[in-house]
Amino acid sequence: MASTVLLLPLLLLLVLLVTGCSGSQSALDPGGPYADAIARHWWTMFGLGAAVLAVVISLFVYSIVGAKRTRPPDEPPVHAGEDDVTASAKLRAVSIGVGVTAVILVGVMIQALLVARETYAAGSDPRVDVEVTGYQWWWEVRYLDPDPSRHVVSANELHIPTGQPVRVRLRASDVIHSFWVPNLKGKIDLVPGRENEIVIQADAPGRWRGQCAEYCGLQHARMAFVVVAHAPEDFVAWRDRERQPASPPVDSLARAGEQVFLTRQCALCHSVRGTMARASTGPDLTHLASRLTLAAGTLPNLRGHLAGWILNPQSIKPGTFMPPTPLASDALQALLAYLESLQ
Ligand code: CUA
Repeated sequence: MASTVLLLPLLLLLVLLVTGCSGSQSALDPGGPYADAIARHWWTMFGLGAAVLAVVISLFVYSIVGAKRTRPPDEPPVHAGEDDVTASAKLRAVSIGVGVTAVILVGVMIQALLVARETYAAGSDPRVDVEVTGYQWWWEVRYLDPDPSRHVVSANELHIPTGQPVRVRLRASDVIHSFWVPNLKGKIDLVPGRENEIVIQADAPGRWRGQCAEYCGLQHARMAFVVVAHAPEDFVAWRDRERQPASPPVDSLARAGEQVFLTRQCALCHSVRGTMARASTGPDLTHLASRLTLAAGTLPNLRGHLAGWILNPQSIKPGTFMPPTPLASDALQALLAYLESLQ
């Protein structure tokens, strides 16, 4: 009966743990070699912890139901020296416990150091350099090139090639943020006034969610991003496409929308390369229509969400620095047509 009572919560805990073992934003579903090393370390610690727990519970149950009744303190010993034997047995048990604990802890520490060396010293020769800057509450992503005119600027999406280390240089523009893609590596802070860096790698094409992991204000929870891993040739094609300025709108509605964009408040904060809009307070929108989400992972990039976001961003992400843009229906439709043309 006692063992059933003990087993039931353990079983529930195991079910809870297993449900968290897969999918996007799970450190136990690695998408690359660094996350794989971290996940293996986690499973080792989990296995050891479970074994220790099982031993402790077994001894506990044995002490309650299985052990021989000990003599009450006021009863004299049956054999001479019985008290000495009991004391030395206790001392031996404690010594074994301390010894086993020390061996396990030192072993886990050595493995942790090896994993840290494997994950953080590796990839010293990355062929892709990305600069990610944290803002309240979105991410600017800048693909660096020896020729500054070939830099590629995007937002809230990190595209990487598979099978090679990618160096991400991290900066913060306002407060401390933290860059975390659990499927690819551990987290690292973005600190104003300094540059940190992390090397990530994905083994196969895929998409993973990243999340700001350091409380940074009201919309910390809605400061997410998407990592998209492409086959290397697809990544080069993506980067070349992303580097292009926006194509001029072809239909009259989108052309009218471009005028709305340039003459209303949009152009005061955003830039669309190839137009007069060159501001950098908010995300670069040159290829907005090709992005997966709006407002740093808050909404899927769909027309209705985009309309709601433009009209009243405060109702979606209270505290965001984007002000509402009251627009008449025809101006809004034109603006949406223009923004959806920014492929
Ligand atoms: Cu940025 Cu939390």
